[in-house]
Amino acid sequence: MSEAHDVLELARSLARTAGKLQRERYETDIEIRTKSTVIDLVTEVDHACEELVVGGIQRERPDDAILAEEGRGDSRDGATWRWVIDPLDGTVNYAHGYPRFCVSIGVEREGLRTVGVVYDPLLDEEYCAIRGEGATRNGRPIRVSQRDALGDALVATGFAYDVRRSERDNVDHFVSVVKHARAVRRDGSAALDLCYVAAGRFDGFWELRLHPWDVAAGLLIVDEAGGRSSDLRGEPAPASGHEVLATNGRIHEQLLELLRPV
Ligand code: IPD
Ligand code: CA
Ligand code: CA
Repeated sequence: MSEAHDVLELARSLARTAGKLQRERYETDIEIRTKSTVIDLVTEVDHACEELVVGGIQRERPDDAILAEEGRGDSRDGATWRWVIDPLDGTVNYAHGYPRFCVSIGVEREGLRTVGVVYDPLLDEEYCAIRGEGATRNGRPIRVSQRDALGDALVATGFAYDVRRSERDNVDHFVSVVKHARAVRRDGSAALDLCYVAAGRFDGFWELRLHPWDVAAGLLIVDEAGGRSSDLRGEPAPASGHEVLATNGRIHEQLLELLRPV
């Protein structure tokens, strides 16, 4: 078995352990705090999940670098492998009891997205990909949709936590896409939105000012499911998550037309 397969197995097991905790604590009385703005939340479950995942990596692969949303990372210059972790993607949903959230674990090898796992603990859906080997949901191969007209497409987006004060608030993009697509969803978990593009549930997804941990796993899963990902100019999607457009490929240019900066 290749090292990437070992890394995938560890990522799967850690995602399931954290997901189990999310399921157990869902809709219970948990501590909730704010972070960068009053709408940016973090719960004790985000922290507990991050501790589980980061602790597991440090035990099993002490030489690897780690970037984790809530700050338990370990930058380790010169490491070959880097883990990029969102311990709970969809925190606002989680805090409100809206059943759409996940654990997202992406792993880069020498800076290249190589392994991705996204686990939805309520639906028990596990999305996985290894670079060059395709993408799966619960072990079965997944592919992007075949829809080629934006007018027939179900598309998703999201808004950053500074939406109330930012000029690049994505509201103008939302208004223009809603007039062209069949429908637009805002479901509150970017990592799952990307997996839904990979699995053909959504035909496309875009968002501005995401972070590396939101997209590290999902972008690989989209690419390995035959989709296309880019920034809003059509250049390769940045690992920073700063701009993301991911589609089935067929509606990519149609969405770029509406989203491309002028
Ligand atoms: C957020 C979710 C949401 C997206 C936000 C993200 P978090 O992540 O992915 O869908 O719109 O931009 O920050 O805070 O729940 O991990
Ligand atoms: Ca996130
Ligand atoms: Ca998070």
